[in-house]
Amino acid sequence: MKALILSGGKGTRLRPLTYTGAKQLVPVANKPILWYGIEAIVEAGITEIGIIISPETGEEIKQKTGNGQIFGARITYILQDQPLGLAHAVKIAQTFLGDSDFIMYLGDNLIEDNLKPFFTAFKNQNLDALILLRKVSNPSAFGVAKIDEQGRVLQLVEKPKVPPSNLALVGVYFFSTAIHHAIESIQPSPRGELEITDAIQHLIDIQKPVEALQLKGWWLDTGKKDDLLEANRIILDTRLEISLEGDIDSNSQVIGRVEIAAGSKIVNSTIRGPAIIGKDCYLENCFIGPFTSIADGVRLFETDIEHSVILQQAQVSGVHQRIVDSVVGQRAKVEVTPQRPKALRFLIGDDSRIELA
Ligand code: DAU
Repeated sequence: MKALILSGGKGTRLRPLTYTGAKQLVPVANKPILWYGIEAIVEAGITEIGIIISPETGEEIKQKTGNGQIFGARITYILQDQPLGLAHAVKIAQTFLGDSDFIMYLGDNLIEDNLKPFFTAFKNQNLDALILLRKVSNPSAFGVAKIDEQGRVLQLVEKPKVPPSNLALVGVYFFSTAIHHAIESIQPSPRGELEITDAIQHLIDIQKPVEALQLKGWWLDTGKKDDLLEANRIILDTRLEISLEGDIDSNSQVIGRVEIAAGSKIVNSTIRGPAIIGKDCYLENCFIGPFTSIADGVRLFETDIEHSVILQQAQVSGVHQRIVDSVVGQRAKVEVTPQRPKALRFLIGDDSRIELA
């Protein structure tokens, strides 16, 4: 069994953050989204991993993620010249995949469930495809499955205007080599992509064994700002452990589950967990509220923040209205002097600068 993680694509929905970086590297609780997928795959006992990358962001992904050693895996990078669809990505990975069964994992998805039981079900039932489903309130944004009373998959449609059910296709799939032949049999969709949904539909049409299982835990497709904040909230809520390595002065208060990495200095501030602060940050006269992730090298002065994600080396000062539900990009600067606007909601791109003077 091998794994194929799709980490190419354009990431248009997370712009402007993704003008300068891969969406799969945007951190959730200070760790790139992509790494959660790699860790889940390795935990399921699969260590031979191919990662699809694009010409625009591939180098950054390679540089950060490396050859897999830190995960106990072996990673092979596979360049996809253009984002021509999920099935196209499988097609160009054929040399890597050889005659192995494989798990395909979309690099912007996060799931709570352990992969092992799905892997076992796939093997024990000798399936050609096992798909995972989750009930959602907005099925039109996803691939959607229609299933019968026994849970057998009848039909799959990609982003239907009129969805046949509220069961969305999660971005984690298990395939046998039969998928390669199915991909050869399909044509690009109206949006110009070779859809994996169509390839699986082909397997169903020719009566190959395709099953669906529903996820028990949460699932997040981190494609948009609110999804990213929700992923951040859930990961901090469920996985963060207390660790205080930074320098916290005697006028500061740290309450609840908080991680502060080495080299960071907290002066006259309150940090209320769950919250994470990376390496080499400087915080003075701040309130950091629950569900906030602050990446390495961030500087915050006179600032109140909660339920937000602040990326590397950003700087925020003088914002006393609480910043909520916000994402601040790498190296972005927000300065307020001295008025107090009523509400602030941000999705600020890398290198942006906002001054409320
Ligand atoms: O997240 C689940 C959904 O993912 C499913 O419900 C849909 O059926 C499936 O088509 C997919 O839809 P998205 O529109 O969310 O896919 P997206 O274009 O965001 O791509 C998913 C991941 O795959 C992302 O990490 C980028 C990568 N990718 C995408 C394309 C189109 C590639 O590596 N190559 C590609 O050609």
